[in-house]
Formats: sequence, C-alpha cells, structure tokens
Amino acid sequence: MQNRRDFIKQSGTACAAIAGLGFLTTLESCSAPAAVTASSYDAATNKISLPLSSFGAQNKLVIGGPNGDYNIFLIKNSDAEITALQLKCTHRGHGVNMQEAGLHCPLHGSDFDFSGNVTNGPAKLPLKKFPVKIENGNAIILLA
Ligand code: FES
Repeated sequence: MQNRRDFIKQSGTACAAIAGLGFLTTLESCSAPAAVTASSYDAATNKISLPLSSFGAQNKLVIGGPNGDYNIFLIKNSDAEITALQLKCTHRGHGVNMQEAGLHCPLHGSDFDFSGNVTNGPAKLPLKKFPVKIENGNAIILLA
C-alpha cells in the first residue's frame, strides 16, 4: 500500500502540498497555488470537523487524511449535502488525484466521477464514501 508521502512525491507535489491533517487544500487547478485553511480531527470520535466556509467559492476540496492516511475528497452539493470520498483507488490502493473532469488514479488509469463511481477501469468498485453531517456551519466527516 502506498503511504501519503509516496503519493505526494509521485503526484507532482506542487499542487498537493498537504503535510498532514490540519491542512486543507483546494485543488481545483494544479497550476493555482493551494489555499490552506485549518480543519480538525478528533481521534476519540474518529471525526473531522471542517467549517463550511473552507469551501469559499469552490465546491470541491481535498483534505489530508488523519495520521498520514489517504486524502479525502469533498464536494459540496449544497449547504446541506456534502459527499466525502477516500482517495484510495479500489483497484490496488494507489492514491487518487482530483482533476477537472473527475478523480483519476495514475497507476493504471482508473477514473471515477465526483460521486466516486467508476467511469473507467480497471477498478470495478466505487471509492469509499464517508458519512457527512452538517452541524452549526461545520461539515462533520465520520471516518468509521
Ligand atoms: S491502483 Fe488505481 S488503477 Fe490500479
């Protein structure tokens, strides 16, 4: 399994300078500098709390997983609905990158839509989805 450090090295780094949870990066475009905002992880409950304001004018974000785990892709469908996907390819576990048209695994070329569904193999299963609750202006991502 690829750890996050390897993933960042292989991903070209400049657009994915995520050094650990506590940092949030918008990756709408790899050519634009990343915006960084605080988020928090509660190990006791295994939840990430993220202010909805972190999205700014964007509706997509990538945040680091806790303890060096895979990054997490977030898409805000509305102020009441956010989808959270683990950026771990369901083919062989490589890190998945956000691109303009969807989510892409560079190892063997699998593609996923922004809902995590496979649009191009060899992966056959969708990306893992985490439940998200909205509370007091925060997205609460349940990592269980
Ligand atoms: S590990 Fe992602 S396509 Fe093979």
